[in-house]
Amino acid sequence: MKKLYIKTHGCQMNFYDSEKMVDLLKPLGYELHNDGDDADIIVLNTCHIREKAVEKTYSELGRIRDQANLRKEKTGKKTIIAVAGCVAQAEGDQIMKRSPWVDIVVGPQSYQNLPELISKVDPIEKNKLISIDFPVIPKFDQLKSKITQRGPSAFLTIQEGCDKFCSFCVVPYTRGSEYSRSIYSIIDEAKKLIDAGVKEITLLGQNVNAWSSKGKDGKVWRLGSLIKELAKINELQFIRYTTSHPLDMDLELIEAHRDIEKLMPYLHLPLQSGSDNILKLMNRKHKVDDYLKIIEKVRNYIPNIAISGDFIIGFPGETDKDHDATIKIIKEVKFSQAYSFKYSVRPGTPAAVFFNQVDEQIKSSRLQEVQNILREQQFEFNKKSINSVIKVLILKNGKKVNQYLGRSPQNQSVYFNHEKENLIGSIINVKVSEAFQNSISGSIV
Ligand code: 5AD
Ligand code: SF4
Repeated sequence: MKKLYIKTHGCQMNFYDSEKMVDLLKPLGYELHNDGDDADIIVLNTCHIREKAVEKTYSELGRIRDQANLRKEKTGKKTIIAVAGCVAQAEGDQIMKRSPWVDIVVGPQSYQNLPELISKVDPIEKNKLISIDFPVIPKFDQLKSKITQRGPSAFLTIQEGCDKFCSFCVVPYTRGSEYSRSIYSIIDEAKKLIDAGVKEITLLGQNVNAWSSKGKDGKVWRLGSLIKELAKINELQFIRYTTSHPLDMDLELIEAHRDIEKLMPYLHLPLQSGSDNILKLMNRKHKVDDYLKIIEKVRNYIPNIAISGDFIIGFPGETDKDHDATIKIIKEVKFSQAYSFKYSVRPGTPAAVFFNQVDEQIKSSRLQEVQNILREQQFEFNKKSINSVIKVLILKNGKKVNQYLGRSPQNQSVYFNHEKENLIGSIINVKVSEAFQNSISGSIV
């Protein structure tokens, strides 16, 4: 077997794409390893959302070149270097100019061409191969490779791209416009995942609840109906989805949460800011009150649902008053856990040229304040689980001897100890006895 190493940055969709790359390259004799030493291929799957994404990519490519050179000196063998993901899409042939040792550049919509591109790499000709077009035949129709290996929980991308154009975000430019996979190809992949031993599927999309497709009945299906259909697969035990946009949070999806036991009581719904002024500048197309109404409705239907979110702190023009509004909303909603980021400029996005950028120190102190409250809320939320018995999917071993790590329905990390048989992949009931900042723990009942 030849050695494949993939370094993945960014969101779950990138991790899904990397898993697909492993599936694609397996028939060519490549096997995935955990490091790049002596690798025949190194793929760097990049993310454009992270700060200074482009510069970080080039410095990482410098390190990869050193690794490849070392191998060449030692063994005389060439390492093929490929750059994938959103930075690859955005930079294109610029990557070859700045890092001429890179052999292949593939975008998120064209990595299905990797086997062909790899076969064309010629160490003598030093030809450079670039595939960043948005293909006419959708990627998913070409990605029918066998699923090789998965853990108990797997991702399944059902939707890609975004038409919302939030003023801070690069996604509409790197992942293109909204595209929904067909019901048939999603069900087919879900069944293959189940055959590979998967018990939990997380449906992925930049705007996952914008997913829609025509069903067998000729009607247009939305995410709620798709989940209902997936729930019919017997061996599939847990269904999750991420990330949603408030504008696409329809009643069908909320009802699915109420009616389908396999759909986990967890909703990741980014708000980004608690100020209407800022939401307008962000081009989020809804008001704070719309968000609150959704949360209220969701909680009326599913009282135990865990609510998570994303916040951008220090967006251009954010005043103390806007920041206070964000704090107020966070306190009002009470998140089970949420992500918060300092605003940072993404070249090419509208907000990058807004003149009233917020001072870095102010951003940092506001972020601190937000994160302190969110941490407190997470701890409070975890404490509420104490003494309850929860159904847990066991994902892997913990760091300590005989320790296991699983995920609760409300998306908490759950630790417990067990000595005898291997429990990975099983679903067991755990009685929670202790709560921590980032996790809960207990014992099997
Ligand atoms: N600056 C900071 N955070 C950002 N995000 C997206 N773009 C930016 C940016 N320019 C955050 C948003 C989004 C999450 C995936 O990343 O909160 O929901
Ligand atoms: Fe980016 Fe906004 Fe689309 Fe989310 S909804 S991917 S933040 S443009």
